Amino acid sequence: MAVREVLRMGHPLLHQVAQPVEQFNTLELDMLIKDMFDTMDAMKGAGLAAPQIGVSLRVVIFGVEANPRYPDVEPVPTTVLIHPQITVLGEETQEDWEGCLSVPGLRGMVPRWNRIRYDGADIKGKPLECEVSGFHARVVQHEVDHLDGILYPERIRDMRTFGFERELFPEVFGDAAVPIGDD
Ligand code: NI
Repeated sequence: MAVREVLRMGHPLLHQVAQPVEQFNTLELDMLIKDMFDTMDAMKGAGLAAPQIGVSLRVVIFGVEANPRYPDVEPVPTTVLIHPQITVLGEETQEDWEGCLSVPGLRGMVPRWNRIRYDGADIKGKPLECEVSGFHARVVQHEVDHLDGILYPERIRDMRTFGFERELFPEVFGDAAVPIGDD
């Protein structure tokens, strides 16, 4: 198990376009994805992109388990997605709170497409395609943004919604509370 350091906003690697994966079924790629899961799980994240642990490759993971303590959070199946492409379905957008492991302690309201299709490859290089909406679609868009060097604060429309989670949600993010939903 290797929990890696998560780079924080301002690190140049988070602001660049990540490179394509050249080869599948390599020990290197398998180890990278394993480290990404170890890191995401240790930090209780909803998703993680390879650049966040210092690897500039077009690889993201995400997944949220149902949690009775947070009934409003929709479960998202655990997914490895390489070379993701997003196709927007419909014109509807939705605005909701986001956080990011690379922007610790903060939250902001971010507009996202409500319904998308994503295409890409799985860990073995097999094509993968899925239509998703709502929170699931939000998580995918947040992670794919990471591969293009975009962090969610760049997408906030009203900067007055951008703030420290303990100030925004004191009842959820007290000293003992465990933050969830950071990507
Ligand atoms: Ni993030």
